[in-house]
Amino acid sequence: MNNCGMEPAQKDRTPFSDIDALSGQMSEIVLDALTEMGRHPEIQRVRQVAFETLRPAAGQRLLDAGSGSGEVARMLAARVGGTGEVLAVDHSSAVTAAAISRHDGSNVRYSTGDVAALGMPDEHVDGVWCERVLQHVDDADRTIGELVRVTRSGGRICLIDTDWGSLAFDGMPAGLGAVVMAHVSGHFTPKQHDMGRTLRRRLVAAGLRDVTATPVTCLFASPASAAVVLPMVNPRVPVEAWATPPGLRDEWLACVDAAGQSGTFLAVLTIWVVAGTKG
Ligand SMILES: C[S@@+](CC[C@H](N)C(=O)[O-])C[C@H]1O[C@@H](n2cnc3c(N)ncnc32)[C@H](O)[C@@H]1O
Repeated sequence: MNNCGMEPAQKDRTPFSDIDALSGQMSEIVLDALTEMGRHPEIQRVRQVAFETLRPAAGQRLLDAGSGSGEVARMLAARVGGTGEVLAVDHSSAVTAAAISRHDGSNVRYSTGDVAALGMPDEHVDGVWCERVLQHVDDADRTIGELVRVTRSGGRICLIDTDWGSLAFDGMPAGLGAVVMAHVSGHFTPKQHDMGRTLRRRLVAAGLRDVTATPVTCLFASPASAAVVLPMVNPRVPVEAWATPPGLRDEWLACVDAAGQSGTFLAVLTIWVVAGTKG
């Protein structure tokens, strides 16, 4: 149950599926994580590719679906200018409140809502940005159908999502890493762990044209850099959230730390930027 007494919108929970249902400490970690991710150079590199792919233009009305702290919505607002607007929709009221508290006066309208059931007319927006959200929803194809419905003919839809199946480490014992990943997959990471690589076929199946898919492989060369995006190397994530056998988390994090100290830590993760045109 969430704090409104309603069933959560997602069955298979990740921390980002239903932020309002998290403990105060976890909710704080998740909100900080959204801010830190936006500052991370590798996430900024992914977003640069997405901006070049969506090509936001002055006067457009854009939807940021699953808008988190609203940072991208405000960047999009700077592109659409005073004659355009950005609709920033997120499932979490805590996240939406945090986004509103950071509002910079640009043309962004923030609201809570489910991206799978948007309270908007057909063909309401000129384009959609949906970043690292579909991996957390119950039915990605139904959600994509909803994003297509609210987009006008000729409008662009840009989806950005992680391929957790691409995650790889070096510098730590491979066997230990495999055991840890077996415990945290589908827990820290969503059950739909390969969402990024499936986006191209999903947009093709949804009838979009001119579909492009760009894999961006993010490199994390230190534990501190990786911890911003990868919860399984983040010592701030509380012990009870790990659900690993006793001692495993500590042994793993000690190896991560040692690899960082010796300069041999490495992690890679591919995030996909996939876009298409409606009609
Ligand atoms: C990993 S965060 C990404 C946030 C933002 N797009 C960014 O890139 O910073 C995932 C976001 O999706 C939101 N979310 C998850 N399921 C949702 C749903 N069904 N409808 C709307 N937002 C959802 C979460 O509340 C969270 O803010």
